[in-house]
Amino acid sequence: MSEIRRISLGVEWLDYALQGGVPRGTWTLVTGEPGVGKSILCIQAVGANVDAMPVVFVSTETKFYDVVRQARQFGIDLSDAVSLTEVLTGKTKDVKTNLIIIDLFGLTRQYRELLRAGEEGEEGSKARAKSPLSMEVVMAAIEKAYEVLGVGEEGGKKDVLVVIDSLAPMWSHAPAMARLITYRLRQRLYRSNVTVLMTNQYAPTTGMTFGFGAEHIADAIIHMWFESVETTKEIRRWLIIKKARLTNHYRKAMRFDIEPGKGLVLLEPGIDELRKWFESSSKGRVSNE
Ligand SMILES: Nc1ncnc2c1ncn2[C@@H]1O[C@H](COP(=O)(O)OP(=O)(O)O)[C@@H](O)[C@H]1O
Ligand SMILES: [Mg+2]
Repeated sequence: MSEIRRISLGVEWLDYALQGGVPRGTWTLVTGEPGVGKSILCIQAVGANVDAMPVVFVSTETKFYDVVRQARQFGIDLSDAVSLTEVLTGKTKDVKTNLIIIDLFGLTRQYRELLRAGEEGEEGSKARAKSPLSMEVVMAAIEKAYEVLGVGEEGGKKDVLVVIDSLAPMWSHAPAMARLITYRLRQRLYRSNVTVLMTNQYAPTTGMTFGFGAEHIADAIIHMWFESVETTKEIRRWLIIKKARLTNHYRKAMRFDIEPGKGLVLLEPGIDELRKWFESSSKGRVSNE
């Protein structure tokens, strides 16, 4: 009976709630309103793993440097990160890093080239991708990053963490295509050694993940929300694990806040309760085998 290897999300209490983290090779979706803390969670997950494994961080919303700067505010040093744009333009040669950041805004000039290289002969790909904000570009860029990080076909079995923050712009032009687009993503990038963390916006007005979402390709779903600010007159953030395959996860909502230098900080229940829960729930090892 082999124990499941888990990947930390960089937030101790959330790891407890997930019995130690997300299982290696699974796909986790983080949903929630703008500003609730999805990107900061992603950055913490990167910080926790980048020394141990190659990491590809796709940012569709912020520039390369903003990711590094935001990380620094939480005491996470990502200054060794290399932007894929710099690699493609030849600005950075002989890359020695564990972290490639793909910022789609930076790819405005390079993305066509990426598509040509990645999908030789596949008719129509160039036409489909009229802007770098497309899943075709994201997939080709991730594959290019694998190559740079030495986890291409040959370096195959090494653990890799892929973070996509966020998916929403990928189908903003065609919301009805969301399912198909995300299925394609999963089909093309699925590998047993690749653990994926992705985010998506959740529209509080319609109660739906923007463009019908990506829940169907997620092995785990972490949902974050704000209590009504008009009622509470202060920011009150909550998080719940709605689903986590292969995991006897914590079932209750956890209240948290975001603190400089720390990131996601647990307010309710206490960390002791979560640790105790983690210890007792892991004892039987029911879901760990
Ligand atoms: N340095 C910081 N210290 C404390 N809180 C911060 C800091 N930077 C950002 N925040 C908080 O994090 C929020 C943004 O979180 P973020 O993860 O970017 O949200 P999302 O990705 O869900 O839209 C900000 O609105 C602010 O409340
Ligand atoms: Mg964000």
